[in-house]
Amino acid sequence: MSVTARVPAKVNVQLAVGAARPDGFHDLANVFLAVGLYDEITVTPADELRVTCEGPDADQVPLDRTNLAARAAIALAERYGRSPGVHLHIAKDIPVAGGMAGGSADGAGALVACDALWETGASREELLDICAELGSDVPFSLVGGAALGIGRGEQLTPLETGGTFHWVFAMAGRGLSTPAVFREFDRLGEGTDIPEPAASGELLAALAKGDPDALAAAVSNDLQPAALSLFPELAGTLAAGRAAGALTALVSGSGPTTAFLVRDPESAAAVAQALLASGTCRTVRTASGPAPGATIAGR
Ligand code: C5P
Repeated sequence: MSVTARVPAKVNVQLAVGAARPDGFHDLANVFLAVGLYDEITVTPADELRVTCEGPDADQVPLDRTNLAARAAIALAERYGRSPGVHLHIAKDIPVAGGMAGGSADGAGALVACDALWETGASREELLDICAELGSDVPFSLVGGAALGIGRGEQLTPLETGGTFHWVFAMAGRGLSTPAVFREFDRLGEGTDIPEPAASGELLAALAKGDPDALAAAVSNDLQPAALSLFPELAGTLAAGRAAGALTALVSGSGPTTAFLVRDPESAAAVAQALLASGTCRTVRTASGPAPGATIAGR
């Protein structure tokens, strides 16, 4: 018997970052939107824990116990006294090290799939606790939709959305390490007064209304200068998308994936084509959100 979970990618429509805390993390006001690009994680009982991966970026995915899917299975097994003997297979469609929570998606997916396989009876709160231990973005991968994350980003409040938002994503030729981007944020901010992160009222209103023009005017990402400092070529990708008619262009999370908000699926196709033709990115994808969080897709 196998269980398959399907888990979406995310884009941060707002990422407000505070000063570094004593524990090295940063307080955030993080507005997540789940978008319809999915990883699928299939768990099958096995003699010992094993991870395999397929998909265009599969060779960049670690197959050892640093993989968040493996860590999720181990954490759940320890808490419920099970053996973590499972084969975890990841069908990967979310870009690796792209700032779209691909690793977090695999953690959340492995967790819900193992939970269904082992019939632990864990409550939603217990699963969310384990997610928060695994990583700051993992709880959001479980819940999906749209949410405000505060603290490290793991304390979630679901948000209303009044419509579907259409996006184009441009994938870069290499990844960026999230800790490196936060370190660059710290370096760039040295000696300056960094305000407490807070969600933007305009942005939450635009999400609630489902208004892409208002959302485009309100998006922000405090990590963008740091990502551009480490990966200056991204400025060319952002400019190409804007020139092609995107309502706005921003780095997704810690990058290097860039995100382009557009009005409808037709403009998504046009912007995607122009971005590819610009030669400023490796590949492009279109997706819309909000998308549902981790769900069991098959048994
Ligand atoms: O929580 P997660 O393991 O996803 O975080 C990866 C890295 O990103 C952390 O080690 C830290 O360097 C950085 N980070 C941070 N502040 C946050 C979330 C992540 O500095 N709120």
